[in-house]
Formats: sequence, C-alpha cells, structure tokens
Amino acid sequence: MHKKTQEITDLLIKAAEKARKETSGEPEPGLTSPINWPIDCVVGPGLEGAIACESKIGYVNGTKGWLIYRGYDIFDLCINSTYEEVSYLLLHGELPTEVQLKVYKKKLTQCFNVPETLRTLLSFSIEKMHPMAILRLGLNMLRQEFTKADQADHKPSADSSIATDADTIAMEFAPRGEEHAIFEFKKKKREEEEAAAGINSCYRLIGGAAAITAAMNRIRSGHFPIEADPELSFAANFLFMMTGKKPSVEEERIMDISLILHADHGMNASTFAAMVVASTLSDIYFSIGSGAAALSGPLHGGANEQVIHMLKEIGSVENVKPWFVKARKDKRKISGFGHRVYKAYDPRARILGPLAKHLAKQNKEFGPLFKIAKELEKEVVSSFGKEKKIFPNVDFYSGIVYHALGIPAEMFTPIFTVSRVAGWTARVNEYLENNRIFRPRAMYIGPFNKKYLNGNL
Ligand code: SDX
Repeated sequence: MHKKTQEITDLLIKAAEKARKETSGEPEPGLTSPINWPIDCVVGPGLEGAIACESKIGYVNGTKGWLIYRGYDIFDLCINSTYEEVSYLLLHGELPTEVQLKVYKKKLTQCFNVPETLRTLLSFSIEKMHPMAILRLGLNMLRQEFTKADQADHKPSADSSIATDADTIAMEFAPRGEEHAIFEFKKKKREEEEAAAGINSCYRLIGGAAAITAAMNRIRSGHFPIEADPELSFAANFLFMMTGKKPSVEEERIMDISLILHADHGMNASTFAAMVVASTLSDIYFSIGSGAAALSGPLHGGANEQVIHMLKEIGSVENVKPWFVKARKDKRKISGFGHRVYKAYDPRARILGPLAKHLAKQNKEFGPLFKIAKELEKEVVSSFGKEKKIFPNVDFYSGIVYHALGIPAEMFTPIFTVSRVAGWTARVNEYLENNRIFRPRAMYIGPFNKKYLNGNL
C-alpha cells in the first residue's frame, strides 16, 4: 500500500480502536429482531420512534454510535473496502467476488456516460441555480436515457403475454415436455430481464448522479464536462471529472472513504422520502429524485455546506466562545451537530474528524478553519453533550475534508447525494419486494358540524 494511504489506514484503525473502546456492547434488542406486524411503537413528532419496515441493509445504533452495512462495521469497510464494493454490498447483499467486482466497476464507469442528460441540463442556467436543484432535475432526466418503459419495443410481446397467460394457468394444465421447458425458460428470461432492467437503473442512477455532479462543477467553474477514464476507480473518476485533475492516491482514498461513509443510514428523511414515492409503484428515477429533494434541506444533507459558512462566520478560535454564547441565546441550530438517532458521537464524525485534521496539517489554508471547528466542537459538546446528547454528526467535518480537496461548498450536498444513491436504491428495491404503500394518519384536531350558510364569506 502507498505510504500516504497507509497513513490514512493507520488513522482509521486508531479511530476504530477508540470507538470500540468507548462503545462496545450489544445491538438494541428492540430494533434488531424480526417483526410480527402489527407492532406497538411510541411515536413522537416527525415519526420519531416509528418503525416503518424490516431491513437487512443497514443498522444505526444511536445509543452507542454504531453504523453497520449488511452486517459489516463501518470502520472495517472504510479500512478495507471501496465505494464500488460497498455500493455492490448494499444493493446485492454480499460483497462482490473478484469477477463480479470487475463487471460491476465496468458497468458503473459506463454509467458515467450520460450525454443526452448533460445536453438537456446545459439548456438551464447552471451557474445561477443551486447544484442540488440541477442534480434533482438531472436525476429525473436520466429516465429519458435508459428506461424503455415509455417506448414501443417495451410493450409486452405476444410470447410474453402467452407466458403471462401461462403464468396464471394452474400447473396441471400447463404445457408438458419441450413446450413446458420453453415456457419456463421464457418466463425465467423475462423475469431476469426485468430484474436486470431494475438493477441496471440503480447502477445508472449511481453513475449518472456522479456524472451530473462532476459536470456541473466543471461548468460552474467555466470548463467543459470531462469523460470518465476507464482506468480510474469510481472515487478517482469522480474527482477527476469534477476538477479536471487526476487525484493523488491520498485524495482518491479520502474521497473513497467519504463515499463509503455517506452511502446508507437507516430510515433517514431522504431514504424515507425515496421509499414513500417508490411504495406507490412510481418510477425509481422519481423516487431517487425525491430523495435528493429531501437531502438538500439544511436540517439534513444540506448541513455540510452550512458548516463551512458557519466556521467562516466565526472567523477565529478566539471568537468561538462569544459566537457560541450568542447562538445558544438565540436558540440557533448549530449545523453539523445533533442527530435524531445518534445520542453519542456519530461514528462517521469519528472518521471524518481525524481525516480533516490530517488534511489541515498538510495545508496551511485549512489549518485555521480546522482549529475553529475543534474549538467549536469542544464548546458544543461541553454545553450540550451530557445534557442534550448533542455531538458532531457526519456533516460537521465532511465540509472541511471536501474543502481541502478543492471542492466548493455548494457541491458538498451533491457529493453526499452521489454516495447516498446506493442506499436509496438498495432500500427501495428491498421494500418493493414486500411493498405496501406508506400511508400514516394525522390526528384531526379541527372542528366538526360547521353549518354552510349562504353569504358565509
Ligand atoms: C444528517 O437521520 C439521519 O440519519 C440523517 C443523516 C444521514 O446520514 O442520513 O445522518 C444525515 O442529516 C445529519 C444531520 C445534519 N443536520 C444538521 O447538522 C442540522 C443541525 N441539527 C439539528 O437541526 C438537529 O439536531 C437535527 C435536525 C439533526 C435532529 O433534530 P431532532 O431530532 O428533531 O431534534 P430537535 O430539533 O427536536 O432538538 C431536540 C433539542 C432541542 O432543544 P429543546 O427545544 O429541547 O431545548 O436539541 C436541540 C434543540 O434545540 N438541538 C440543537 C441542535 N440539534 C438539536 N441545539 C443546537 N444545535 C443543534 N444542532
């Protein structure tokens, strides 16, 4: 392993050891056993505490500060894996074999190629719109390129309709012998084709989101979009297509770790939004577009961009305390802190914090920003940690890491989106296997029996 990346791996191993020392213990029994519907939940505002479904995709232990993807601990995945392996794991349930990984990497790189979508996006004033608005448009436009659902050649062909009829013929009447074998083959082939079309849409959304994000960063900096280099990894291509510069091994490794960290996170607002849209059997492109819409909010994925603006507003280590005293008095929500589920350190912040420190040490320009962040973390944790269980979340240090990679603040949430498309598509696919449209209730506290009188206005 390259010396530079070994340094990063050592930093991750240290963070993992510290986390395990402080957070060992068992998973929460009430949140990790199969469900016998209906169940009782104590539900607070914003569906706090509500259990929406079962999942094997990921587990967040809020009391301890654990994050698990398909049984693998996030620290182990960051130390040993890559975003290609992890996104495959989330989508398919197992880490890929060498051959599966090779095929998947090739497919993902091909999915960076979205010329029609980029051409359409170029007709918008990209330099004036917020990148998340463009990315959301782009995600919905990806549908034009890859889904044959609207095109003639997708109409069910005669033989598949026969197969459909045959599907409904009870086995005792189904054709026998050779004919029966063909029927089974056709039915299986059609199911495989549909499954492939489904999973290929997920790959295309992951690759397409990266391509759109990279292209818009190029256009916003006055350059043309760049094609992917098939020799590069997903993380390296993403940085290359964004900045026009082949990243160093260290930059590639840091982006890869950040993409792994942001890939999935239970039933957060944007994942839930994507699943709600998918549960109506709408289109996966609209579902992922809804996920992007939800993630863009400053209470959610949009916080990483706010953190950088907030640190610059504070301006110096000396001003942290007075700034915090005023923010507390004004009951201001401090970006990058607090979490609906984590009442302990966000394990992702346990990794991104040391990465930010590592980068700040190398780059004088980010040293002061990192020092302000560390001082603010100290202030917030000492005031809110014990009392309100408020600690840094994933967004607090990610901004400094991206900043150090030369990425503008308004691109931070699109990068979060690129990574999270893996978790969104994986959870949408899993939920659709046992779909039931999401439809909670509202407590009606309005009036009854009002009489409609003419001239009521
Ligand atoms: C992400 O859900 C996920 O998994 C999301 C995410 C993912 O990977 O998908 O982890 C990504 O969205 C991380 C969060 C990024 N957002 C921010 O950093 C924005 C700042 N954080 C807060 O807005 C807040 O902590 C939330 C929105 C994250 C969580 O809000 P909750 O659970 O609804 O908590 P709350 O607003 O009800 O606050 C409870 C108390 C309140 O005080 P009291 O009124 O009880 O006195 O805690 C206080 C809040 O004022 N509080 C904060 C605070 N967060 C909570 N006070 C100051 N600063 C904060 N950041």
